[in-house]
Amino acid sequence: DGDVLMHTTGQPGEPPVENGWIPYLGCALQFGANPLEFLRSRQKKHGHIFTCKIAGQYVHFLCDPFSYHAVIRQGRHLDWKKFHFDASAKAFGHESMDPSHGYTTENLHQTFLKTLQGEALSPLIETMMENLQSTMLQSGVLKAKPSEWQSDGIFAFCYKIMFEAGYLTLFGKELDGDQSIARQQAQKALVLNALENFKEFDKIFPALIAGLPIHVFKSAYSARENLAKTMLHENLSKRANVSDLICLRMLLNDTLSSFNELSKARTHVAMLWASQANTLPATFWTLFYMIRCPVAMKAASEEVRRTFETSCQKVDPVNSRLVLTREQLDNMPVLDSIIKEAMRLSSASLNVRIAKSDFLLHLDNSESYHIRKDDVIALYPPMIHFDPEIYEDPLTYKYDRYLDENGQEKNSFYRNGRKLRYYYMPFGSGVTKCPGRFFAVHEIKQFLSLLLAYFEMELLDPDVKEPQLDQSRAGLGVLQPTYDVDFRYRLKSH
Ligand code: HEM
Repeated sequence: DGDVLMHTTGQPGEPPVENGWIPYLGCALQFGANPLEFLRSRQKKHGHIFTCKIAGQYVHFLCDPFSYHAVIRQGRHLDWKKFHFDASAKAFGHESMDPSHGYTTENLHQTFLKTLQGEALSPLIETMMENLQSTMLQSGVLKAKPSEWQSDGIFAFCYKIMFEAGYLTLFGKELDGDQSIARQQAQKALVLNALENFKEFDKIFPALIAGLPIHVFKSAYSARENLAKTMLHENLSKRANVSDLICLRMLLNDTLSSFNELSKARTHVAMLWASQANTLPATFWTLFYMIRCPVAMKAASEEVRRTFETSCQKVDPVNSRLVLTREQLDNMPVLDSIIKEAMRLSSASLNVRIAKSDFLLHLDNSESYHIRKDDVIALYPPMIHFDPEIYEDPLTYKYDRYLDENGQEKNSFYRNGRKLRYYYMPFGSGVTKCPGRFFAVHEIKQFLSLLLAYFEMELLDPDVKEPQLDQSRAGLGVLQPTYDVDFRYRLKSH
């Protein structure tokens, strides 16, 4: 390959070039192999940094976790917004949300911080807890006799419950005094419909990010447009208890943008996707690994029981009014570790920055590399999540990996005897870190707490094999399993 530019150690040079692919960066159709293996073999050959030429663009993969901060803290030379704005417009079909293109002056980053973190978090959590309980315990679930086992796929179950509760938490409920059964059923149908559309659209998401036009995918296109129709402002404004995030975004769409009504609605579809696409598979993996590991189940049940007991709450499925405050949720180290371990094993989000100008990237080993304007620098966290030097037996699930000897959150991880600043990155890094991460972890904790409080659960086949990760989404976030796993559950007798 004539593009190979070898560097000389200690001298400013450019990283060695390789050809490769990863869907986030635009080659989904060629994609078939395991990106982690690919990157590792290149790392073996080239060392801490190497370059892939993808769709005419130079992408530098940085593999040394001790050098991550050089990229994560590199504000002056690296841009992160451009990538997001482009990807979002491509996938969801709204007009550009990049203020420099002139359609809006909204500072999206600020909108997210203001409505998903700090003061905004408590009301979100409260609403989620109510919605989870009504979704989990109402209608279908309690139809059968309380003592009877019901079977479902873990994936199907997590998607149904979390999608409905999360959807209603962000987008509110229909404003209508009429609380008849027929009305409630209509609400339910709307949400189930939204879930079907979401799944249909989500299936082709990697292809859209890779640059294929949505019109190629007829049913996914109509699924996305159906979702958008339900999110036209005229429809959203008829809903009650809409989250701060969506309320503020509606206001800013109406006041700061020149978007047409359909474009506004499509920006809300983007919010729906961001809030669900990672959370749903993360919930699946968390529940799957926990159910399969009796010690994990036991430790988690114990923590949940203690938490409700110390706040004097009675578990009663008929009057389901359990509450978990932010403080209580922050004080559940076992569930925290269980969630982290599941995400360590299943997340594959590529962290991307674009060079705003030519500059020298200084690595931890005092080598420096020339990075050219418009080049991409990428970090692939699975390289640390599966590094045996950092995590012993990295392929093995250990529910207490993130607990220290006192049963509290563990945050000292080492490589070659050196303490790591970056060892767990499913939510991204630095300025592009997921703004919804606190809510995400809290809602999964709530889901697990309620399940453990109300239900007994077991796998239909206790020796079931662990499903493989669907690598076609590598780079885009938490990966889905290639197939579902059956379990059964029934109400505990209280
Ligand atoms: C962005 C992960 C849940 C809202 C991101 C990014 C990642 C991520 C990796 C992109 C960072 C980058 O490109 O470098 C996750 C995971 C979740 C989760 C693993 C669940 C387990 C949520 C939830 C919400 C949310 C529940 C909202 C309610 C967002 C938004 C962005 C984002 C709005 C775009 C931020 C921006 O462009 O400035 N998330 N996320 N996420 N996430 Fe999450």
